[in-house]
Amino acid sequence: MKINSNFLDLKDSYLFSTIAKKIKAYQEQNPSSDIIRLGIGDVTLPLVPAVIDALHKATDEMAQKQSFRGYGPEQGYDFLRDEIKDYYARKGVALDRDEIFISDGAKSDLGNVLDILHPDNKVLIPDPVYPAYVDTNVMAGRKIDTIEGNQANSFKPMPDESYKADIIYICSPNNPTGAVYTHEELKAWVDYANKCKALILFDSAYEAFVGDKSLPRSIFEIDGARECAIEFCSLSKTAGFTGTRCGYTVVPQELQFDGVKLNSLWNRRQCTKFNGVPYVIQRGAQAVFSKDGFEQIMQNIAYYKENALIIHEALEKKGIWHIGGINSPYIWLKCPDGMTSWEYFDHLLTKANVVGTPGAGFGKMGEGYFRLTAFGDRARTAEAVERILKNS
Ligand code: MLT
Repeated sequence: MKINSNFLDLKDSYLFSTIAKKIKAYQEQNPSSDIIRLGIGDVTLPLVPAVIDALHKATDEMAQKQSFRGYGPEQGYDFLRDEIKDYYARKGVALDRDEIFISDGAKSDLGNVLDILHPDNKVLIPDPVYPAYVDTNVMAGRKIDTIEGNQANSFKPMPDESYKADIIYICSPNNPTGAVYTHEELKAWVDYANKCKALILFDSAYEAFVGDKSLPRSIFEIDGARECAIEFCSLSKTAGFTGTRCGYTVVPQELQFDGVKLNSLWNRRQCTKFNGVPYVIQRGAQAVFSKDGFEQIMQNIAYYKENALIIHEALEKKGIWHIGGINSPYIWLKCPDGMTSWEYFDHLLTKANVVGTPGAGFGKMGEGYFRLTAFGDRARTAEAVERILKNS
């Protein structure tokens, strides 16, 4: 028996596990410390009332013989797929129900999709980037090339025509930088992908934070994207489902490589390896798209965006370079006084008892930068900002 030795090429620990370990060690040594966590992008507001009502109702259904449900469709229940279809229609994007696959979140699908793609594909990943894109490809032994995000390109790298990619990752609004591609910029990526017959894996997990109507919230708002892109989205950040788990992946019927539809391959993969998201959770997810549910989740998003504004205004006042936080829950800042990302992490943890995420954890281009999340409690965020300003 041989192990998958590609795993040995991974960093010792996943970024957010490393951070959690560091916090635990600090807390054990400093038990009275009052730590404020603006690190991992985890939500803090509870599920909205419409979702809770739907979860209760569905739970009661599971208690009765006549309404009990066993295995559901691997692709998700039609009631939820249709809500998502309508949600896209409201964004001006027409989808068929069978292009929408319900899952337990974008992170799983972004990793699982690699099952249907050949290991020899050349992968192009922007740097800095959500570390799961890199790690899942390392696990599969795939060759990864990076494209640099930096202050000069506002952390929105654009295609290099002299390079031919097979698989391209794009996350917009971006994790970790909060940068959002415009229609024109995404169009350049779509044209590039179609020219090199590459596949774009588009992560739209933060689309609900885009308030600027001129910015795209789905790759499928771009002409030509149905021929080259899969979109991954999730209710984690949209509706506070980080612990409830529900997301969806859109695989257009036009998407074909070697004469084979990726929609069929993905369907085949899901039917073999996945037994669907629990019925109760899908009912909760359905409620997100109801009139009341949607108003309620948008109030929560407004709350987080207000947190982002508080962080943005404070950094602005202090003259600390930063981006994001307007159409995104993440603020990406330059570490003060030439500190490295981990130095600044340690500095804030020990001097201010505030946790953020070191930019270097998102790739080498993230070195010297730092990410703060707006998903915290309002009063605690304001307190954290005070402490950061005092110690920066
Ligand atoms: C993050 O902090 O980058 C995210 O919360 C991680 C995730 O969505 O898995």
